[in-house]
Amino acid sequence: MKILVTGGAGFIGANFVHTTVEEMPDAEVVVLDKLTYAGNPASLAGLDRVTLIEGDIADPDTVDPLVKDADLVVHFAAESHNDNSLNDPSPFITTNLVGTFVLLEAVRKYGVRYHHISTDEVYGDLELDDPNKFTPTTPYNPSSPYSASKAGSDHLVRAWVRSFGIAATISNCSNNYGPFQHIEKFIPRTVTNLIDGVKPRLYGAGLNVRDWIHVRDHNTAVWAIVNKGEIGKTYLIGADGELNNLQVVQMILEEFGYDKNDFVHVNDRPGHDLRYAIDNSSLLELGWEPQFEDFTAGLHDTVTWYRENEDWWRPQKDAVEAKYAKTGQ
Ligand code: NAD
Ligand code: TYD
Repeated sequence: MKILVTGGAGFIGANFVHTTVEEMPDAEVVVLDKLTYAGNPASLAGLDRVTLIEGDIADPDTVDPLVKDADLVVHFAAESHNDNSLNDPSPFITTNLVGTFVLLEAVRKYGVRYHHISTDEVYGDLELDDPNKFTPTTPYNPSSPYSASKAGSDHLVRAWVRSFGIAATISNCSNNYGPFQHIEKFIPRTVTNLIDGVKPRLYGAGLNVRDWIHVRDHNTAVWAIVNKGEIGKTYLIGADGELNNLQVVQMILEEFGYDKNDFVHVNDRPGHDLRYAIDNSSLLELGWEPQFEDFTAGLHDTVTWYRENEDWWRPQKDAVEAKYAKTGQ
């Protein structure tokens, strides 16, 4: 089986490539990745049956032959960070919207099975006391340029299914954590700050809730959907991991053996979504179950990974913190 993985040098894509070649001896993986600041070839080092092609998903001449040659396309590539989308939305439109359009046109031309990776952020946010969670029929209501561009890409996929009959599925997942996550994101930023003896930065009061899932559980869910999902359907991926940011910072401080109040409050994110929460019942119907339900244990493993892989993240640290310093974060 030949699998084209877009964005496979990024966080979730790289983890997907690792588990796919580990668990599927017949799989050949081609990674198409632009190697932006978020893509790192080192995340794929030493893997057999993986070919990395540096290129842009928004370029039809690059995409066309790769899709033609594939049995399956799993589309992870994206500009993925909310804070960056507030500083400069432009690459979010090009990659997340135009890039998805280019892939869909190639998939349509060659009749290749396509799975679209998206986010729960397309649904906007929930009140803290809302008893409802996001479901596949929750109305789209994105808040940031990032989530709006992902919402637009989902709409393109739905339209290509309905109008052109492509064989596609969509998944919208909650916040991931685990190895190979870029250190601009909350958990690895906090962990690498603490490794450096720098206090964690908490946006606003820290009461915003995210529904954390280990990246490996995200990826087993993707395979469940590819293998057993219904064409044209949207699946929500989550593992009942709701925690507010204050709780997460304090758990990480405890993991390091520090006082749980040893963090600083910094400027809040404009338009900051309050709460995300996933109703995963349609996914459970496929027989999928999360394996990393103990967040404290998952966090311990993740902290260990960042301690042991300083070579992987160190070159980015100063630039990331300089960017945050400009917005007082
Ligand atoms: P990431 O930023 O770590 O990786 C994105 C990858 O895409 C990078 O390797 C980058 O080089 C590549 N890329 C960017 N623009 C490209 C282009 N034009 N052409 C080819 N490659 C390009 O992101 P991630 O956290 O791994 O997220 C992967 C996907 O999962 C995204 O679609 C994101 O919206 C979605 N998602 C992420 C999370 C999360 O918590 N990180 C949660 C739900 C959904
Ligand atoms: P992030 O990892 O950027 O993911 P997302 O915006 O997709 O949820 O942020 C997760 C949460 O953590 C979000 O509510 C913003 C907050 N946050 C902090 O409090 N401090 C930080 O240093 C960062 C990067 C994020």
